Amino acid sequence: MTKNIYLPFGEGPRSCIRERLGLMQSLAGLAAVLSCYSVEPAPQTVRHPRVDPTSNGVQSVIGGLPLMFKLRSK
Ligand code: HEM
Repeated sequence: MTKNIYLPFGEGPRSCIRERLGLMQSLAGLAAVLSCYSVEPAPQTVRHPRVDPTSNGVQSVIGGLPLMFKLRSK
């Protein structure tokens, strides 16, 4: 696998000291949202989104990634 292409937490001696906590919190937040909502593509969502080559650190998609959140029945 090619290393050092995707660096959301940096790399080396000054990289993020709480990478695992950040990942765990992100997953917990995602699980909390998905427990309440179903997520679907929106009418304007593109099938093959293009990554913005000028984004740094955290990747972003050109034009964003519109999604539909539908409240799940309990
Ligand atoms: C998704 C969540 C997070 C992301 C994406 C993130 C990302 C980053 C990045 C990119 C850096 C700079 C690395 C570098 O300069 O090479 C950094 C540094 C740092 N992060 Fe995070 N971080 C996250 C969560 C956290 C959390 C939860 C904490 C603490 C509770 C934390 C504490 C720090 C500290 C103290 C540094 C400075 C390390 C140093 O300069 O030696 N981060 N983080």
